Amino acid sequence: LKSKFLAAIGAAGDEARLEEVRLAALGKKGEISALMATLGKMDPEERKATGARLNLLRDEIDTALRAKKAALADAALDARLREEWLDVTLPGRPRRMGTIHPVSQVMDELTAIFADMGFSVAEGPQVESDWYNFDALNIPPEHPARQEHDTFFMARAEGDNRPPHVLRTHTSPVQIRAMADRGAPIRVIAPGRVYRMDMDQTHTPMFHQVEGLAIDRDISMANLKWVLEEFCRAFFEVPSVELRFRASHFPFTEPSAEVDIRCSWEGGQLKIGQGESWLEILGSGMVHPKVLAAAGVDPDQWQGFAFGMGIDRIAMLKYGIPDLRAFFESDLRWLRHYGFAA
Ligand code: PHE
Repeated sequence: LKSKFLAAIGAAGDEARLEEVRLAALGKKGEISALMATLGKMDPEERKATGARLNLLRDEIDTALRAKKAALADAALDARLREEWLDVTLPGRPRRMGTIHPVSQVMDELTAIFADMGFSVAEGPQVESDWYNFDALNIPPEHPARQEHDTFFMARAEGDNRPPHVLRTHTSPVQIRAMADRGAPIRVIAPGRVYRMDMDQTHTPMFHQVEGLAIDRDISMANLKWVLEEFCRAFFEVPSVELRFRASHFPFTEPSAEVDIRCSWEGGQLKIGQGESWLEILGSGMVHPKVLAAAGVDPDQWQGFAFGMGIDRIAMLKYGIPDLRAFFESDLRWLRHYGFAA
């Protein structure tokens, strides 16, 4: 009997089977319990001897059952631990965070640099009336400059009597709005989107400009030169820059100048601030008296400079980006390559 039960205990593969064995041996209807029940009918001598052996057998079976039960529990725990094993030393999975678009980063940077020089930010609408975009800037309807701007015109239904509107072709109309709003003296920049029908490696139909405007009693081209040099030193993070002012023409400034920055190409790498080459970065000049007058500022008392700079262009220069179109494709691989995205 003993070896039968010990064998059954050894063979039990799980706790349910082990419980069956326990019931068969020690349960109320178990074989050992049945033998115990016969003790009552024995005479004292026999009962004592048999009882002692039965107790011993019961204890041995009981011990074996407990040992097996513990072993099964251990095995189950081991199996679970193996299954649910977790390596807490593994590095975490990186979570990709959104980042600010490079053009927005550059806008923030230049806004901060000009803020240090006393310029606040002015804004205007991207759908602009043709008066603000052209007429007020001394570009009357038949002026050839209108054609050069590759303007997007807003469609107008028959009988629509509102003044004609365009997608602004430059940020210069914000000069007019800012002066009309705030009067003189004034020192503002106006960063924002502008639109022209043009598309190649260095042109996109939407791009960004920042307008600068400083009007006071005796502001001159010398102030313009200093402001632009300070800006370029800070923006390109170089100890010194050299700017070249080339005589030019804009209807809204007189005199006018296009400004180039000194640079070099070393093994395909663009270096700003030194070298033999020049790169055009902006248009500028002294605000034309007619423009001041159109904005309600008296040209006999006030004068100042204005400039318009391509934001995407200076971003390309700063980060060595060859193709402007990439800015507007939102290709994450491209953004990551230039360190603009995680
Ligand atoms: N608005 C001009 C352009 O888009 C730039 C400019 C701004 C020139 C202000 C002079 C003064 O080309």
